[in-house]
Amino acid sequence: MEKRAQLYEGKAKRVFATDNEDLVIVSYKDDATAFNGLKKGTIKGKGVINNQMSNRLMKLLEKAGVPTHFVEELNERETLVRKVSIVPLEVIIRNISAGSFSKRYGVEEGIVFDEPTIEFSYKNDDLGDPLINAYHAVALKLADREEIEEIKRLAFMVNDNLKAFWAGCGVTLVDFKLEFGKTSDGRIVLADEISPDTCRLWDSVTHEKLDKDRFRRDLGGVEDAYAEVMKRLNEHI
Ligand code: TMP
Repeated sequence: MEKRAQLYEGKAKRVFATDNEDLVIVSYKDDATAFNGLKKGTIKGKGVINNQMSNRLMKLLEKAGVPTHFVEELNERETLVRKVSIVPLEVIIRNISAGSFSKRYGVEEGIVFDEPTIEFSYKNDDLGDPLINAYHAVALKLADREEIEEIKRLAFMVNDNLKAFWAGCGVTLVDFKLEFGKTSDGRIVLADEISPDTCRLWDSVTHEKLDKDRFRRDLGGVEDAYAEVMKRLNEHI
């Protein structure tokens, strides 16, 4: 596999073309941002952890019947994935109140929901990723109705599997963000990453935060938290 020109640089990853037009290489950086890029920093070793963790979780999800972009881990920071066109929706599943949910509705963090919730944000940095509903997403032609139904079905499947997996590691899956892509033959697959950047992960006993909220909220111990969840995953997979 030959690595070719850089196609795209995002806040946490770079994407490179390969000699196969259906495949691209994703390269994970240690750069961290929050609040739509307003807060910038570095989390040492994050790129390695996010790459490896995301790949392990995507493999687990593939086994459970969730199609993903994952093809092959190339090295510590780089992975070969299927080239997709990203559906410009951030798909957020919540099991427990936290973050923008708590802020928006004026409730404390840590309320366990009877059923998981789903919401979409329009992936658009200039607009600050505004909340959007399915009708508006269809009106804006971000996805059609069938695609949104498929995305919802897959997102809840991801939640069922990841919640159970993390519980086995002594970690509570509070909420997370997914992105989906469309392959050249029109299939919806899970894309982007699943990592402490994109999930809220709390220690099941102490409720200590083991995710990017430590960076967002200046709680300290950011690198240690990423290393701790990676260690727990390694012990339980
Ligand atoms: P929120 O409570 O700030 O809306 O975040 C919900 C989940 O989505 C949380 O696990 C963090 C993740 N997330 C991202 O992955 N990217 C983002 O840009 C934001 C705002 C949240």
